[in-house]
Amino acid sequence: MASGEPLPDGVILWTRLAPEPLHPTRPGGMPNQAMAVQWQLAEDEAFARGVQSGTASAQPDWAHSVHVRVTGLRPGAEYFYRFSIDGHTSQVGRTKTAPDPASTAPVRFGVVSCQRYEHGFFTALRHLADERPDVILHLGDYIYEYGKPAHPKAGRYVRPLESEAECRTLGDYRNRYARYRMDADLQAAHAAAPWIAMPDDHEVRDNYSGALPGDGTSPAAFLKRRAAAFKAYYEHLPLRVRPSGSSLQNHRWRPYGRVVDFVLVDARQHREGRDMLGPEQEQWLAARLKGATARWKVLAQAVFFAPRKFPLEPPSTDAWDGFPESRARVLAEAPDGLVVLSGDVHNGWACDLRADWADPASKALGVEFVGTSVTSMPAMTDASAILPLNPHIAFFDNRRGYLSCTASMEDFQTDYRVVDFVDRPGAPVSTAAGFRVKGNKLQRTDL
Ligand SMILES: [Fe+2]
Repeated sequence: MASGEPLPDGVILWTRLAPEPLHPTRPGGMPNQAMAVQWQLAEDEAFARGVQSGTASAQPDWAHSVHVRVTGLRPGAEYFYRFSIDGHTSQVGRTKTAPDPASTAPVRFGVVSCQRYEHGFFTALRHLADERPDVILHLGDYIYEYGKPAHPKAGRYVRPLESEAECRTLGDYRNRYARYRMDADLQAAHAAAPWIAMPDDHEVRDNYSGALPGDGTSPAAFLKRRAAAFKAYYEHLPLRVRPSGSSLQNHRWRPYGRVVDFVLVDARQHREGRDMLGPEQEQWLAARLKGATARWKVLAQAVFFAPRKFPLEPPSTDAWDGFPESRARVLAEAPDGLVVLSGDVHNGWACDLRADWADPASKALGVEFVGTSVTSMPAMTDASAILPLNPHIAFFDNRRGYLSCTASMEDFQTDYRVVDFVDRPGAPVSTAAGFRVKGNKLQRTDL
């Protein structure tokens, strides 16, 4: 089970009925009929102080997933939940509502991305679960659609998938999520805190861009595949909004008191030409950034935001470097206290966002924290050659892990939490570096 999308008065509780999670023809091994699932929410882990309970219908059309929209809860409060059906009871999950709009209490959250199952063990998620944060942001590549690489050296293959074929159909995507959701560390991270998730490309297809798959198939055929992929994504995550055909509304705003406004944008689905966000979403973002009143405006999205120059290759066209006009328009609206969060590149980076990238004395517009992958292997990255070309980039680390952030009215602290290996379970976690934000600039805290 899982929870997500916290508001001051409610959360989404999620589960899916799947007694045979990898059944090849019947999703989850379930009969083709609706089933009634009981849910319970309590103030304590032993369910002595029950708060609400009810029955939800798990529909075969939605792979017997359940999304319970709970309302009427107290702000900033911890709750516990569980599901039951026919005498079977799920594990207990912990969740937490967002704080009251007037709250000045610190907000503790984790940031993760890029959990390629066959590349290793989700040890980083287990360590993040142990921190019991207020909320976990997932910034994309929750699954990878790839099949088994034809060449054994095409990537480390630590754990077998449910199928050696690339995901293309609804059934493929459903079973890929089911494979991932059988992982105990991923289960622990969902049971520890509510999630706010934003997909990137691999929930659908590698490097897709708007309606273009990048593999030569027609947009019409690709949008059918994207519809299947988004449907399976919804069926497996605690989201508030259902997909509509090949579209899924991912941009949203999640306020956390007077301390943090989380502003999430989809930097993949609405791309067109030189436009990263699409006109509608970009207008929404500009209004959101202008209207945000919390101390920290956290722009959470999937791909690298600041520029990156490389010694040999051109800048990446799959990141904001491929959409410089879009980036400039966002930065023209940069409010005081802007913090950009991103993933995608499978290693950790910290960047100053400036009016002039090369001039540390130019106006400070905010900072960017790029989280590393949970397991996905990075491309070869020669940081010693890249950092001198990019004076606005303060930090690089090539290990797997997650970001652990604490925002208060005075401070925004980010720790780069890393594990040294994922090819076997049990890696301990350590902090590679820490930063706080002062005057819209990075300040290292661990040296
Ligand atoms: Fe990735």
